[in-house]
Amino acid sequence: MKTKSAVYAIVLSLLTCFMITSCSNNSSNKEQKTTSSDMKKDSTAISKSDFGTTPDGKKVEQYTLTNANGIEMSVITLGGIITTLKTPDKDGNMGDIVLGFDNVDTYLESPYIGALIGRFGNRIAKGKFSLDGEEYTLATNDGSNHLHGGDKGFDKVVWEAQEITNASGVGLKLTYLSKDMEEGYPGNLEVTVTYMLTNEDDLEIDYTATTDKKTIVNLTQHTYFNLSADPSQDILDHVLSVDASAFLPIDGTLIPTGELRDVAGTPFDFTSPKKVGKEIAVDNEQLKLAKGYDHCWVLNGDGGMKEAATLYHEKSGRFMKVLTTEPAIQVYTGNFLDGTLTGKEKVNYAERSAICLETEHYPDAPNKSEFPSVVLEPGQTYNTKTTYSFSLK
Ligand code: BGC
Repeated sequence: MKTKSAVYAIVLSLLTCFMITSCSNNSSNKEQKTTSSDMKKDSTAISKSDFGTTPDGKKVEQYTLTNANGIEMSVITLGGIITTLKTPDKDGNMGDIVLGFDNVDTYLESPYIGALIGRFGNRIAKGKFSLDGEEYTLATNDGSNHLHGGDKGFDKVVWEAQEITNASGVGLKLTYLSKDMEEGYPGNLEVTVTYMLTNEDDLEIDYTATTDKKTIVNLTQHTYFNLSADPSQDILDHVLSVDASAFLPIDGTLIPTGELRDVAGTPFDFTSPKKVGKEIAVDNEQLKLAKGYDHCWVLNGDGGMKEAATLYHEKSGRFMKVLTTEPAIQVYTGNFLDGTLTGKEKVNYAERSAICLETEHYPDAPNKSEFPSVVLEPGQTYNTKTTYSFSLK
């Protein structure tokens, strides 16, 4: 009897041992599958892990890019979403300066947090536009208007990803083919968005697109920033500058009226750096319509790369500069965040817990011939660039 139970005990412990080893192998595979480009000599790195699955069964992967100075950015293939971005404060402590979630489901119900936006960033009135006399109808997913590409815009599709490691830093090339009439837009649109996290601490974003049929395009990135790295604090103390002498007033549905209004003497004047909260609550018809800032500023300068905005958080010392080839920037102060979504750090995202600086063409441009064109023809290449540059002050 004794010998029999001893044999059982040995078999049992061997079995347990085997199970523990295979389980731990599985979980490490899931969490951190290191790729070939990991840990180059310059200490940049890219790692890849599972992030979950979409309701229609598509695998979502997360890539974590680390530049030579230890700045770390994670991006998932769902929506090209930037899930985390860790930069140092003036004492050298790393902090995550973007809102985000730790699961696919919450991203799918979130207001575009961290995501790539397309085919058309911002609003199109009544979800309608015409090209060469043909009228196209899009989803009206924002009251009576179309917003950020529709019901299943570029923020909700899974992109192909390819790692980049070169002398300037680490990056990710994301590609997506949006089929003819997807979300009601004409033309097969081949889109490439490249994120480069450089060793100069810049996040460079390059957008290109081509079509086989005349269409409209307006791509942007919808990261919600909070430079304090503590989203339980609001962003009213962030100091903002916007290099724009005019902004686009909106109607009650947040569609530009067509007027370009001088910012001088209004709460929209950020030509000199000013706290976001300084005039956000003053009695102003435009601020009331949007419950704060949710407007498009018309940038000074031409189509070349130019400084569009800066954002500074004094306590942490974090300073961010936005440069772009785009003619405009939407500044959105998180007015519609209402505390119902819980972020990755278990904080409920409340009103004004972050600010978005979305470089783009003007909202409703397809219906306003006086606004710069957003039409893309076959044979042309859409190409815009935006850089978010991180430093300390
Ligand atoms: C828009 C806001 C909208 C937000 C989230 C911003 O780009 O301007 O009005 O609420 O995106 O959807």
